[in-house]
Amino acid sequence: MARDGSYPHGHHPSVLASHGWRTAENSAGYLLPHLTEGSDLLDVGCGPGTITVGLARRVAPGRAVGLDPASEALMKASELADASGVENVLFEQGDVHSLPYADDAFDVVHAHQLLQHLSDPVTALVEMARVTRRGGLIAVRDADYAAMTWYPDSPGLDRWRELYHTVARRSGGEPDAGRRLLAWAHEAGFQDVTASAGVWCYADADDRAWWSRTWATRVTRSGLAEHALEEGLATAEELEELAQAWRDWGGHDDGWFTVVHGEILIRV
Ligand SMILES: C[S@@+](CC[C@H](N)C(=O)[O-])C[C@H]1O[C@@H](n2cnc3c(N)ncnc32)[C@H](O)[C@@H]1O
Repeated sequence: MARDGSYPHGHHPSVLASHGWRTAENSAGYLLPHLTEGSDLLDVGCGPGTITVGLARRVAPGRAVGLDPASEALMKASELADASGVENVLFEQGDVHSLPYADDAFDVVHAHQLLQHLSDPVTALVEMARVTRRGGLIAVRDADYAAMTWYPDSPGLDRWRELYHTVARRSGGEPDAGRRLLAWAHEAGFQDVTASAGVWCYADADDRAWWSRTWATRVTRSGLAEHALEEGLATAEELEELAQAWRDWGGHDDGWFTVVHGEILIRV
């Protein structure tokens, strides 16, 4: 879990389903041109492993390891690897703050949507570097909630973002991580860092329906909802209103939503 043990999304099926939409192609495009067959790769905070399995295919016959503290996510990831017939990947339980690997164990260490949940992302980057071979790569990508934008305007989605910011920060994370990745890499002492940005865009009927349904469920039933209720940040009634705001957005023919991400490649 995030260092204080309070990963704010939890692992409700709606959260795992949302993470399961992700692929190496739609979430790690900035890294793909740098992967070579035979490299050893670690995916830290791998969640349900859909990105890990795609990365594993690209480094075969090298080995790919997905690591996460959450057993529910690891179980999904192993099932996916079996169903996909990808044999050079395995999933292990562990924590980015103390990786269970020797120094210089991997050519590539990847983390997608992890650093935003950590109270000390700089120390995590240093630990990721420890297990990366000299000349290898660390690749990190995180969303930036304040940079998310949508149409049509929706006071309900404005309130959703405000609530998310509060819950994520109280859990020790930084929801606007995307814009900070380069600074965190510099603070960790890395000089050879290439920064970029990448976007998910939900703007057709299928994507809108899926993205809005996912958040309508997450805002009422996932770790986010539990935190908000436990800490008195919202009532159950208000969470229902936010879910309805998501459904209203999802049903709009003109609905458009972008998730902006920061990305960094660190040459170790
Ligand atoms: C937003 S999910 C991202 C999952 C996956 N990388 C993806 O993008 O589909 C963040 C993941 O980080 C994991 N996580 C949280 N704290 C962690 C820690 N200290 N070390 C490693 N993973 C952690 C969570 O269990 C969760 O699966």
